[in-house]
Amino acid sequence: MNEIKIFSPATVANVSCGFDVLGLCLDTVGDEMIVKKIKNKKVTISKITGHDLPYEAENNVAGVAALSLMEYLNPNCGFDIEIHKKIKPGSGIGSSAASASGTVFAINELLGKPLTNKELVPFAMKGEELASKALHADNVAPVLLGNFTLIRSYEPLDIIAINAPNNLFVTIIHPQVAIKTSEARKVMPTSIELKKAIKQTGNMGGLISGLFTSDYELIGRSLQDEFAEPYRASLIPNFNQTKQASMEAGALGCGISGSGPSIFALSKGKETAQKVGNIMAKCFKNTDIEYDIHISKINTKGIKILESK
Ligand code: HSE
Repeated sequence: MNEIKIFSPATVANVSCGFDVLGLCLDTVGDEMIVKKIKNKKVTISKITGHDLPYEAENNVAGVAALSLMEYLNPNCGFDIEIHKKIKPGSGIGSSAASASGTVFAINELLGKPLTNKELVPFAMKGEELASKALHADNVAPVLLGNFTLIRSYEPLDIIAINAPNNLFVTIIHPQVAIKTSEARKVMPTSIELKKAIKQTGNMGGLISGLFTSDYELIGRSLQDEFAEPYRASLIPNFNQTKQASMEAGALGCGISGSGPSIFALSKGKETAQKVGNIMAKCFKNTDIEYDIHISKINTKGIKILESK
């Protein structure tokens, strides 16, 4: 195989109660990438469409992830990357994670799969580090593994894939204001009160248990965030109003997607997810903020190969 075209999906990190440790994979929105083997042992980026991003490999999340994987595998060739961005950078649905994970996935496939997708996570994280100045895996893990993923431990890295109930749907509204993850991390406190940590731990356990047992009510009750939302909500226009309206429309729960500005809601069934999307849109209709809405099932596979030759 000399060339591969892939779909690299968007993701929701944190999922309210799982700050930096929980993420889920979306099905209906993602980047397309084409990666080719080249003779020279280097990484080039020959085409980027959709958004203005750096072409130098060292300054591009996809390039940095590719370089770190190349350093480890030391292959006898280099790679050229084309990135067709459909996920807007700074959207809070894992734009950088899609590019970084997509590249390492594609290179691994082109080299005959020397590593498992789980083993690719640390290399994709190098891209996240460039983008957000933090080595978090809660977007890259669900891109590479699909489903929900739990980072049980960062040192050593221990990632657990968790199947979601069949009828669980995600609604996203992306109000188009820019929030950098690095900035949104600065508003977080450096330590958390014990009382809040106890609540968060309970909800985290509740959510995982609800996912395993398809207990939608338990999933809903557990979607609460004591760590990030209280500090980040004010960065997102209309957040409280959108959350309240989504809950009234029947969402199981609603919160900030990653570091925002996207807001996500989980619902039982597509019809409710659609209703939530309509209500979310209504909350922004009378503002001058543009927005996108995405409705998606949980993507159980992660990255998809579209073509290879
Ligand atoms: N866990 C990260 C954060 C996700 O909330 O800062 C960023 O997408």
